[in-house]
Amino acid sequence: MKLTVVGGGSTYTPELVDGFARLRDTLPVEELVLVDPAAERLELVGGLARRIFAKQGHPGRIVTTSDLDAGVEGADAVLLQLRVGGQAAREQDETWPLECGCIGQETTGAGGLAKALRTVPVVLDIAERVRRTNPDAWIIDFTNPVGIVTRALLQAGHRTVGLCNVAIGFQRKFAALLGVAPADVHLDHVGLNHLTWETGVRLGGPEGENVLPKLLAEHGDAVADDLRLPRTLVDRLGVVPSYYLRYYYAHDEVVRDLRTKPSRAAEVAAMEKQLLEMYGDPALDEKPELLARRGGAYYSEAAVDLAASLLGGGGSPYQVVNTYNKGTLPFLPDDAVIEVQAAVGSHGPAPLPVPAVDPLYAGLMANVTAYEDLALEAALRGGRDRVFRALLAHPLIGQYAYADTLTDQLIAHNREHLAWA
Ligand code: G6P
Ligand code: MN
Repeated sequence: MKLTVVGGGSTYTPELVDGFARLRDTLPVEELVLVDPAAERLELVGGLARRIFAKQGHPGRIVTTSDLDAGVEGADAVLLQLRVGGQAAREQDETWPLECGCIGQETTGAGGLAKALRTVPVVLDIAERVRRTNPDAWIIDFTNPVGIVTRALLQAGHRTVGLCNVAIGFQRKFAALLGVAPADVHLDHVGLNHLTWETGVRLGGPEGENVLPKLLAEHGDAVADDLRLPRTLVDRLGVVPSYYLRYYYAHDEVVRDLRTKPSRAAEVAAMEKQLLEMYGDPALDEKPELLARRGGAYYSEAAVDLAASLLGGGGSPYQVVNTYNKGTLPFLPDDAVIEVQAAVGSHGPAPLPVPAVDPLYAGLMANVTAYEDLALEAALRGGRDRVFRALLAHPLIGQYAYADTLTDQLIAHNREHLAWA
């Protein structure tokens, strides 16, 4: 089995490689190709990746290359984990929206739109090259904004599944609080990428007992603290929103907070510098502790699980993925991309049925779906007016004056990445 990681020079890669090494019975990788245009960085990451495989006695071969076409040739699955413009572009996404009192975040609001506009054309080009060498290859997209990018790929006819680590993070957290094994925790997880709610926590599987009320009664403080939302809010909802919902439920508070501190991009850039120095040490042969301070915890587990199921092996029977709605949530268009539990096999994900969704959440999902639709239009076809329409549709923006200012800012800060600007 050959697997290719595009964006393989990411500091996240050792997390992934550690997962491949530990979970090799689930996913027997013979060749792992790390592709990245940043050759120097790729060598540092590739070196550590080889040492991790060697230490854990993994027989697989690790290849590094900056040649995308060679790297994806014959791959059974291609993982996309790239960041167009790097942390510098992210820093911009997190900064200029704050000037007009809007959230500055890399996947939510105007910053998320900027990222989508930079990313969609690049990812579509990569996917096209993958298809040329192997039309059957699966593309696993971890590249943000995952909902919009996955929809772009699916719409272009690629065999794609979108992946995020929010659900697996909750699964691990809840398992620890409940004192059970993670595999025994099944989440009723519903929404769009980075706009999800856990409406049930079941033991043993989709038909298991719902212990969410008990979890909140016994561990409500721990759950709410993690989300940085008041316990009283979580209790009133009776469901667990993802931490991205904080950008909605506590928008103004978050904006005030973000204005007083360095951006997450700056924090991550500093961490990356330190990580790369560590990766260069020939004595290091495991993923360093510091990596746990990045947001992508358990990403490797989720990715291995998904790849194993798609490639016909033995991943978990149900996994949270991003895929076409196709009637799962009847209040959204069939071609919306949703994030739900699905049975995953070699033909791809088949979402499990979802019980009726409370209008409190359904309304926001519908609104953000409309935004994502317009965002994808803007990413595919460009033009100031399309950017404006997407921003005007976003529930955190909505007013024309803000949408106009943010449109100008978005274009000004991303000109080098936008072919049409
Ligand atoms: C979470 C999200 C990812 C996102 C990451 C950011 O894990 O699910 O989509 O990329 O956070 O983490 P970072 O360490 O870069 O802030
Ligand atoms: Mn994510």
